[in-house]
Amino acid sequence: MAPLSEAKQLETLLELQRDLALEANVEKVLLRITLAATFMLEADRATLYVVDQTRNELWSRALTQGGERGESVLEINEIRLPLDGTSLAADVARTGTLLRIDEPYGDPRFDASVDARTGYRTRSILVVPIDSRDRRRLGVLQAVNHADGPFRSEDERYAVSLATSAGIALEYVQLSEDLAAERLRVVKVAEEERHRLARDLHDGVAQTLANAALGIELAQRRAKQDVPAAMADLEQLRGRLLESQKGLRDILFALRPLVLEDAGLGAAARALAERINGQNGSHVVARRVDADRRFAPEVEAGAFTVIREAANNAIKTGRAAEVSIDVYEDGGAVIAMVEDNGKGFDVASTLQGYASRGSLGLLQMRESARLIGAQLSLDSSPGQGTRVRLVIPFA
Ligand SMILES: Nc1ncnc2c1ncn2[C@@H]1O[C@H](COP(=O)(O)OP(=O)(O)OP(=O)(O)O)[C@@H](O)[C@H]1O
Ligand SMILES: [Mg+2]
Repeated sequence: MAPLSEAKQLETLLELQRDLALEANVEKVLLRITLAATFMLEADRATLYVVDQTRNELWSRALTQGGERGESVLEINEIRLPLDGTSLAADVARTGTLLRIDEPYGDPRFDASVDARTGYRTRSILVVPIDSRDRRRLGVLQAVNHADGPFRSEDERYAVSLATSAGIALEYVQLSEDLAAERLRVVKVAEEERHRLARDLHDGVAQTLANAALGIELAQRRAKQDVPAAMADLEQLRGRLLESQKGLRDILFALRPLVLEDAGLGAAARALAERINGQNGSHVVARRVDADRRFAPEVEAGAFTVIREAANNAIKTGRAAEVSIDVYEDGGAVIAMVEDNGKGFDVASTLQGYASRGSLGLLQMRESARLIGAQLSLDSSPGQGTRVRLVIPFA
């Protein structure tokens, strides 16, 4: 069987992340992750075990198995493994170290009695720990029998990435309902953004690099007969690479602008204004930017997320807008303000309609403001332009 291409695996991962962002039911999320593990790792079966501290056990919270790899899920009896017993899953749960084993029967940590009981033959196995973000062990994800022999080293990376998603989902279970719903919203916003960035990287830079390699090969061939034509090809290629470099810089800036860490909010606001000025026919200026007070990095990052989203919304509205950005100190706080004279919008009805829309911008602004303990106000009405104001208290 032909191995899955990396593009296909990336696609699966992105698809999964999108689904997770939309799914609030934890059982479904775990099942979805386990199914994705079966498919991406080309495994015959996969099991997601959860640590049950009170009983000192691992129990299978989601498992897939059977021939229709990735598509069929069989509800078989729950598996419970003692945390201090012999099994690869328990070993990984105890040590937190990933295990990739090509010949389990030669490994003392492998418990062959399960195979003996069920008649199943374990040939290769990959087990990764599932941890919370504060490094508590929540479970393990186990994949058994790769389609073509042993698991490969890239399978480890995918398994770790899936375990990270599983960790987020399991953390969610442990929180109280209200708190959990809130957390999930934050995760959604973050996942959505990662998804967007991954897509940009995949469609933009990765594509250009692949095309460039091809273009160089063609130019090399051409050069044998027609050097000037080959030179022209290369010149064109160079132009495309430079463009792509700019695209990559934009993505890096979107991930985290270095200037924010180096010089703070004011400098980052100025860099932003310069970067987006002229886009969509807009005119963006850093008007009153004179606050030089620094905050904790996560506070600055959250505040900048708000400023950037507000500025991007302002230049997106379709009418050539005048946009100004202010960052100044006033009465024990830094005020960050983005104002535009664009077409304005109905804030209340837009915020109410979120469930049915695909966008996340205003929601992300609100979450970011809340997380950093700042107050956000949105003033807008159709025809009146928009003002987004963020008050970040010093303390
Ligand atoms: N400055 C603004 N001027 C006019 N309309 C705005 C402005 N900011 C937001 N809106 C309106 O509010 C809607 C929701 O904004 P939001 O940022 O949540 O979504 P989006 O920008 O459309 O998509 P996303 O941010 O997810 O890429 C926008 O589609 C737009 O109609
Ligand atoms: Mg937006």
